Amino acid sequence: MNREVIIACDFQNREETMAFLARFTERKPFVKIGMELFYGEGPDIVREIRARGHQIFLDLKLHDIPNTVNKAMRNLARLGVDMTNVHAAGTVDMMRAAREGLEDGAQDKAPLLIAVTQLTSTSEQRMQRELLIAASIEDTVAHYARNAQEAGLSGVVCSPLEVELVKRACGTGFYTVTPGIRYPDGDAGDQSRITTPQRAREMGSDFIVVGRPITQASDPAVAYARVCADFCN
Ligand code: C5P
Repeated sequence: MNREVIIACDFQNREETMAFLARFTERKPFVKIGMELFYGEGPDIVREIRARGHQIFLDLKLHDIPNTVNKAMRNLARLGVDMTNVHAAGTVDMMRAAREGLEDGAQDKAPLLIAVTQLTSTSEQRMQRELLIAASIEDTVAHYARNAQEAGLSGVVCSPLEVELVKRACGTGFYTVTPGIRYPDGDAGDQSRITTPQRAREMGSDFIVVGRPITQASDPAVAYARVCADFCN
């Protein structure tokens, strides 16, 4: 598998998104569509971006009873996305039902299904105090990753700092999708545990999700090319 850069299209509406995508006249980037854009514009935004030739990671983080997630995934598979996700906290049964829904709904190849282990916004202290998970965050991430693998998922979303422990738990073929990418000369914004594209590559990430360093750049296509050169080569 080749390493891939995924651009987080965190825009409010179709107009902003299309204006941004129009800047990419050569290679069409792999893009992530999240809740903001999907809930604002509906499934047509996915169809439209796909018709423009982009690969799509639909980041909706499903978490419900297995039957509901199975049916929802059938519908998402029909949109022809390349990657989507669920919360590992939904249990192995739920993740398996999600995967089966994708396989049933896909016209051709089923999308890659990955799991969110613990959100990077959840601190170990809050996880232990509010979620009553007594284990360390590292042990929880490794355990949830193993559950995802048992359910037949392809990988997890995690911090680049957790890639090594996920690969140790599940093997190198189990994908890691990592946000929190920044250059030392850029603005960290609200991200705290940040890593450069080069470092993410050295740590073994398979996909990096990059938002503002590309979306807010004066020339997004140039910024994207720089990230690709540093991560993919
Ligand atoms: O702009 P920035 O590069 O920080 O964007 C990162 C993207 O990855 C955003 O869409 C954010 O919601 C997402 N993400 C994250 N941390 C996670 C999971 C997803 O930053 N743990």
